[in-house]
Amino acid sequence: MPETMKNAVLELHAELNLEPFWMPFTANRQFKANPRLLVAAQGMHYTSHDGRQILDGTAGLWCVNAGHCRPAIVEAIQQQVAQLDYAPAFQMGHPKAFELADQLIQLTPPGLDHVFFANSGSEAVDTALKIAIAYHRVRGQGSRQRLIGRERGYHGVGFGGISVGGISSNRKYFGSLVPGVDHLPHTHNLEHNAFSRGLPRWGSHLAEELERIVALHDASTIAAVIVEPVAGSTGVLIPPVGYLEKLRAICDKYGILLIFDEVITGFGRLGSPFAANYFGVVPDLICCAKGLTNGTIPMGAVIVKQEIYNTFMDSAESPIELFHGYTYSGHPVASAAGLATLKLYQQEGLFERAARLAPLWEAAIHSLKGLPHVIDVRNLGLVGAVELEGIPGRPTARAFEAFLRCYERGVLIRTTGDIIALSPPLIIEETHIEHLIATLRQVLQELA
Ligand SMILES: Cc1ncc(COP(=O)(O)O)c(C=O)c1O
Repeated sequence: MPETMKNAVLELHAELNLEPFWMPFTANRQFKANPRLLVAAQGMHYTSHDGRQILDGTAGLWCVNAGHCRPAIVEAIQQQVAQLDYAPAFQMGHPKAFELADQLIQLTPPGLDHVFFANSGSEAVDTALKIAIAYHRVRGQGSRQRLIGRERGYHGVGFGGISVGGISSNRKYFGSLVPGVDHLPHTHNLEHNAFSRGLPRWGSHLAEELERIVALHDASTIAAVIVEPVAGSTGVLIPPVGYLEKLRAICDKYGILLIFDEVITGFGRLGSPFAANYFGVVPDLICCAKGLTNGTIPMGAVIVKQEIYNTFMDSAESPIELFHGYTYSGHPVASAAGLATLKLYQQEGLFERAARLAPLWEAAIHSLKGLPHVIDVRNLGLVGAVELEGIPGRPTARAFEAFLRCYERGVLIRTTGDIIALSPPLIIEETHIEHLIATLRQVLQELA
């Protein structure tokens, strides 16, 4: 950054009143005492408020899969907002939302072919849960109302999402949540699976816990099971070999819908359009967001099987088949961003690129094995995690210290608990991977 601009940004920062903004999922008091502001971005890098280049090891929050400020996406957004800024979403339409839905279903496994638009991952999740319950009612099985999530699942922050989610701190402050929810056990187990490369071998039997839950509640009360194919936010939990296949089979056996929350795994993170393609396991609904617009404009979507859509079209009690939607469902600017994003992914072959880089990524991240406090390293596609032993009595402190030190050295990582999660943009070059891992290595060597 030129010196004059750098000074201007620093001055602006000095005048900024940080107090009024209540920051999400942030240690507000700590942050405001020592703020980390990002002021620009390009490709693989952010520019910090003090003018440093920061290598983005996390694609923002798992969303900037094509890298930052890509001109094709920026221009599509600029043109769209100047041409049609907004169109009512109810009983009216505009071409780009239809076009985007049509493009999206080209990426999903066959049969998943109708799209309901939302504005975030959380909204996509709550939409999917509502569609699942309503679907059973519309087809005459209204007793199927229960939802099954999973321990350590993260499905955003709506009441539906936190209810099926499995993170205690995201649930305990918010009352009784949505009733009629049960949880599968999570699959994370270091005793059996530490330092697995790719899919861990142990643990597919944990899917059979669904049989126990069905036996307890009876299938006639269960609407859907929702899981992240690879859990991201709770620290990159990779499904054991055969686990998702088993879940699918048990859902089929009992007429339970299977929802994949692909907010993180969608759009190339595993080297394929969706995790459903990667695993060859086809859910009944897919939730996506983030990479759908490369993080530029908020947008989420639920992609459903034809049978679900047709049931509503054929059997709804009223002309409006589903009483659900958002003012900004299929927003014109988000749709334009989505179309430009999908085109860029395709033109640059970014999903294939992620698949090609995955072995190199695996080798690089596993080279951190043996460093102080490292109790696990795991990876899949362009996702990786390094789990640290927590400091007794101070959980999260060690990983957070690693985050701060990496940031000081110009590398953005993400931590959750004492787990460091990495998910770089799919445009990452070999030299960036080397830099990212070398910085992390240095920091881990220094940590107390
Ligand atoms: C799997 C999953 N579902 C849902 C969400 C929520 O998305 P959003 O923050 O856009 O509401 C996230 C966000 O990280 C996620 O990882």
